[in-house]
Amino acid sequence: MKSRIALSFSLAALWMQGALAQATESAVGEQVYKAVCMACHDSGVAHAPKFGDAKDWAPLIAEGQSVLTGHAWVGVRAMPARGGSTELSLNDFAKAVAYMARNAGGDWKDPDPVTMKKIIREADKRLVKTIKEQQSMQRELHKQAR
Ligand code: HEC
Repeated sequence: MKSRIALSFSLAALWMQGALAQATESAVGEQVYKAVCMACHDSGVAHAPKFGDAKDWAPLIAEGQSVLTGHAWVGVRAMPARGGSTELSLNDFAKAVAYMARNAGGDWKDPDPVTMKKIIREADKRLVKTIKEQQSMQRELHKQAR
């Protein structure tokens, strides 16, 4: 597992690359994957869908780009929010998901502004659901504290 400092450096390098050259867009997905996601998705630890495994990815790809990306960014079971990297923007995260999907039989492109809006809506809906679940847990806790 990479150290936090090494990760920050890779992310800073990524950011610079994005700022300098829009044309290398799809390289960003690959680099985010290598810097952040590969640690779990290369080996498929804790049932993470394995990189390049069309069988693992078929049902995920079927969910559609905006739903899958939005939900994964918020976090799904053992999948940590933002892949566990608090510095990672939704935009770069989305490129990494598209890169992973492309390498497992999908034809997903780096999201254009319209797709990004849909991804934001899906992530927001999922966050509201998570917040409500947590508020309900908190009410339960407060009842016990009385
Ligand atoms: C700490 C390990 C870990 C890291 C790092 C990680 N993932 Fe995951 N990921 C998982 C696990 C485990 C699952 C399976 C979750 C489940 O279905 O229970 C998963 C599932 C997913 C899914 C499918 C979500 C769904 O709705 O079923 C996507 C998409 C995904 N990860 C993308 C990424 C991207 C992109 C990154 C890097 C930015 C990343 N992951 C980094 C562990 C990780």
